[in-house]
Amino acid sequence: MATDEASVRHSEARWAMAVSGFVVVVVGATLFAALALHRNPPSNLERIDPKTLHLTGEFTEGNLGTRFEDGQVVARIVMTQFAFVPRCVVVPEGKPVTLRLSSPDVIHGILVTGTNVNTMVVPGYVSQVHTVFRTMGNLLMPCHEFCGLGHSQMLARVQVVPPDQFHPDAQGRVDCATQQ
Ligand code: CUA
Repeated sequence: MATDEASVRHSEARWAMAVSGFVVVVVGATLFAALALHRNPPSNLERIDPKTLHLTGEFTEGNLGTRFEDGQVVARIVMTQFAFVPRCVVVPEGKPVTLRLSSPDVIHGILVTGTNVNTMVVPGYVSQVHTVFRTMGNLLMPCHEFCGLGHSQMLARVQVVPPDQFHPDAQGRVDCATQQ
């Protein structure tokens, strides 16, 4: 076995090369995903006071649900122990949609089945997701973060309708059809 100084140095140099190569690959893959594929962690940092969420501003009751405003479809939802308000939102298929969510009590989370929508909803912050819904019909939107005893009952729906059946009223509001 060769244990003289030269071979130790040689071995260290090889390891240094291998590790450097690995670091370059990992950093490169991270940069590629972030810059070229736009895969980033949620970056929306918007604070909101959970104590007054329902009293003033964006998340008051009359403001919740789907709104067509400034050419944009925005759906606002409050997640609270143990319900979604509202329990259903309508969105048009194939169009950009912004979901805005907040919680007055504890940490909740949502996902919409069959889509890339998946975010935590943390009291004190507004969670925002931009997406395009490609599947028509009623998509399940459960709470996916254990939030207390009623967690398993926290369930809502996203009703994806053809764009020609998406009819905002005079205030720009669109509500779910009453039939399920
Ligand atoms: Cu809300 Cu689990």
